Amino acid sequence: RKNGLTDRYRRHLNYLRVSITDRCNLRCVYCVPGVPVPKLSHREILRYEEILRVIRVGIGLGVNKVRITGGEPLVRKGVTGFLGRLTAMDGLRDVSLTTNGVRLEENVDAIRAAGIRRINVSLDTLDPATYLRITRRDRFDRVWNGIMAAHRAGFDPIKINVVALGGINDDDMADLAGLTYDYPFHVRFIEYMPIGDVDPDHGRQIFGDDILERVGRFGTLTPVARQELDGPARRYRLAGARGEIGIIGAVSHHFCGQCNRLRLTASGRLRTCLLSDQEIDLIGPLRRGCSDSDLESIFIQAARRKQERHHLSEPWMAGVNDRMSAIGG
Ligand code: GTP
Ligand code: 5AD
Ligand code: SF4
Repeated sequence: RKNGLTDRYRRHLNYLRVSITDRCNLRCVYCVPGVPVPKLSHREILRYEEILRVIRVGIGLGVNKVRITGGEPLVRKGVTGFLGRLTAMDGLRDVSLTTNGVRLEENVDAIRAAGIRRINVSLDTLDPATYLRITRRDRFDRVWNGIMAAHRAGFDPIKINVVALGGINDDDMADLAGLTYDYPFHVRFIEYMPIGDVDPDHGRQIFGDDILERVGRFGTLTPVARQELDGPARRYRLAGARGEIGIIGAVSHHFCGQCNRLRLTASGRLRTCLLSDQEIDLIGPLRRGCSDSDLESIFIQAARRKQERHHLSEPWMAGVNDRMSAIGG
């Protein structure tokens, strides 16, 4: 029963990433276009009760790791109460949150009280002007204060996600890596993925090895051994640093072979891969009053449909049409 979510390539899908909203209080150039985008209505997104039920069924099938994402999860009302109910569920050994950090400072104690022990925060630069250029909002100080508050509150590790944007944050990468000398953060550099329709002015794509080279100019990088609960990042440490550096080769797809993820979108669909448009409807059956065993069958069907890897690096593949902010990264 516990291996109910094994796919055709014998991967155990024990990690469910859950997007709780498609809304966001930033407008990152690599995520959304420069014009307003349609939002899901309240009726179109899963209620907290529904999400918790889906997760409970997933746990019965072997899910033991859950990440809450968005959009920006902290903009949804009642999120810390929801997090508390989530961490109280039996069977989960890791519950974490990915946030842009804008509303982190005021929520840090409630998130901690809800039982979350580690968080990932997106921050692509340490320069407020570049931050404004990337996110189109002047919120650098708030995010920085949020990260510092999370650090003081004892979140460990705090992972900082940096999307590598050639021509935009090249010089910031070394500065961000340098943070690991002073703080025990894991600073991870992510290859930009062409997903959805975004601002054409989002910078050039830079691949993992080039990122490493930039960061490596700063000091010697030693690989860190992989651990069981590790995500997609290749891990390194700068000599003498307290924290770590990670490279997430999202496009180079070195980690597809070990991919253990399923995604639940804000709109109530199970998605088998971040980088494929294939989704399986859950919200329909849920709202028509389906049973838990119906939900189990939908999960199992999704697992069976999971493809071996994504094809984003293939020249014939233009990209994925869905919005990153609704899938949740
Ligand atoms: P942990 O290692 O558990 O902390 O999680 P994570 O690194 O998967 O989480 P996070 O939400 O911080 O994601 C970091 C980056 O990795 C984001 O840009 C994601 O879009 C990317 N990413 C996460 N999962 C996948 C995946 O399945 N495929 C690809 N291509 N990219 C992914
Ligand atoms: N390519 C790579 N990473 C992206 N993110 C959002 N859009 C993209 C993209 N197109 C990142 C965010 C966040 C994480 C969940 O995904 O910056 O850190
Ligand atoms: Fe919001 Fe994240 Fe998209 Fe930026 S990347 S607009 S923070 S959802």
